[in-house]
Amino acid sequence: MKAVICTKYGPPEVLQFKEMPKPVPKEDEVCVKNFATAVTGSDVLVRSAGFPFFIELMFRMMIGFTKPRKPIFGLVFAGEVESVGKNVKRFKKGDQVYGFTGSSFGAYAGYLCISEDESKEGCLSIKSAKMSYEEAAAMAYGGCLAPYYLEKGNIQKGQKVLIYGASGALGTTSVQLVKNLGAEVTGICSTKNVELVKSLGADRVIDYKKEDFIGSQERYDFILDAVPHGKIDKRNLKAQCKKVLSPNGKYISIDDGSPKEKAEYLIQLNALFEKGNFKAVIDRIYPLEQIVEAHTYVDTGRKQGNVVITLTQVSQPHPTPHPTPL
Ligand SMILES: NC(=O)c1ccc[n+]([C@@H]2O[C@H](COP(=O)([O-])OP(=O)(O)OC[C@H]3O[C@@H](n4cnc5c(N)ncnc54)[C@H](OP(=O)(O)O)[C@@H]3O)[C@@H](O)[C@H]2O)c1
Repeated sequence: MKAVICTKYGPPEVLQFKEMPKPVPKEDEVCVKNFATAVTGSDVLVRSAGFPFFIELMFRMMIGFTKPRKPIFGLVFAGEVESVGKNVKRFKKGDQVYGFTGSSFGAYAGYLCISEDESKEGCLSIKSAKMSYEEAAAMAYGGCLAPYYLEKGNIQKGQKVLIYGASGALGTTSVQLVKNLGAEVTGICSTKNVELVKSLGADRVIDYKKEDFIGSQERYDFILDAVPHGKIDKRNLKAQCKKVLSPNGKYISIDDGSPKEKAEYLIQLNALFEKGNFKAVIDRIYPLEQIVEAHTYVDTGRKQGNVVITLTQVSQPHPTPHPTPL
């Protein structure tokens, strides 16, 4: 099968195509014929090993010293069940699925195997038939990670929530999920993304290039810092955010803790999507053959929402790149 492997840590060009054997599912695994994946913030962070020294040391011990031990790259997928192991109960050949491969990577390939039960090696869910594979691949990353952080806020209807970094994969997911909880959402992003964040339902959008968010009288019950590692002085951002928290308010950063990706998050996303209460935010779509170009674009740090990669031509039409207002 066609696959993209990471030959060493470094620039996008370290990604190379290789013909790899098609994987065979173990007894508890599902083999997925993969139609779409995405270039996520984690993909570019792992590929470039762009961490401070001590974190990088720990990271290399976990993932691999000179290159990832699991050679096939990629974290999210959307496809069709090709075959199942003999103990698999909840999935069958032909099911449309999407998911997150966690520490086993492997989603930049024509086929991948994943346990039917969630683990540190990822999670798998049925995909809504209303979602295209591209939309599902776009939604899987933010859809698995954002709910983990939002749960920490125990967000209630009517509360005020601030999402800093509202235009990225986790940010666009968070804005929509928090609106669905009935809270009042303020999003922070740069000028070019203000209309996008408004279109996702944010009650207010602050353009950080024009306005200082701590200047306002607003106080928030929950603040999610969804700005990726290395893009901003996080210590300073945390101190600033704490100034606009309500007395019992809570702040959390996407760089805190180790998120647990759960299939239930994707199942909830299916329901919201089917009701028209959640939309995939797709910036660009590249074929797998242009994976280096796709990584080069995501490396700019300026993607809006998600960058999707298609593996096989599927009959479903491509979604429009930007969502229509909710
Ligand atoms: N804790 C963990 O184990 C774990 C696991 C997975 C991921 N993560 C984190 O999640 C990140 C990926 O998130 P993502 O995919 O949502 O990122 P993304 O799509 O690249 O989103 C970036 C967001 O940050 C904003 N931003 C960028 N530079 C900024 C700046 N200088 N000042 C203010 N805002 C800025 C962007 O807004 P504008 O473009 O409008 O400026 C955008 O809203 C990873 O890099 C990692 O840090 C952590």
